[in-house]
Amino acid sequence: MKIPLPSTPLAPAADFRDAMALLPAALTVVTTVDGEGRRWGFTASSVVSASLDPPLLLVGLSRTSSCHDAFTAAPEFVVNVLDSGHRALARKFAAHGVDRFAGEGFARWPGTDLPYLPDAHAAYRCVRHDVVTMGDHVLLFGSLTGVDAHRPGTPLLWYRRTFHTPH
Ligand SMILES: Cc1cc2nc3c(=O)[nH]c(=O)nc-3n(C[C@H](O)[C@H](O)[C@H](O)COP(=O)(O)O)c2cc1C
Repeated sequence: MKIPLPSTPLAPAADFRDAMALLPAALTVVTTVDGEGRRWGFTASSVVSASLDPPLLLVGLSRTSSCHDAFTAAPEFVVNVLDSGHRALARKFAAHGVDRFAGEGFARWPGTDLPYLPDAHAAYRCVRHDVVTMGDHVLLFGSLTGVDAHRPGTPLLWYRRTFHTPH
């Protein structure tokens, strides 16, 4: 005899988006470089601390993103935590068909070709730990290997589909 499983309907995509709009998030631009020296980056709000031991960050990346192949292959990446002055940069790194790095103040993380933002609120250098496919995203787990911080200023937040800065 089959016992029917209790079924709770999943939230439709629009409801999920509306719900997640209520979850405040730090805005970041995640960057890397590929084997040909080409720089890649995208605006990301799906960045969280994932583990203390080992020290892991996790970045959610859409499987349909133009950045997918570069980031799933990359041995290292940088999470640049945006400052309140980075609204235009955040929009640019979420835009299609533009040269996202052109005219922006990216530098190379010392001793590497990894692009990072020296005027970010903070920048985390990560070594690829694992890449896990989850639904329509991949979860990039990175081990923290370096931090560039110590700047005054306020981080840029994303909440209710717009920018905010903490007071
Ligand atoms: C506020 C904001 C947060 C975003 N967060 C993420 C994210 O966490 N992960 C992701 O894959 N894309 C995120 N995106 C979308 C990407 O920045 C970008 O728009 C998308 O990758 C563009 O696709 P393309 O690179 O294929 O052109 C976000 C966009 C905005 C505006």
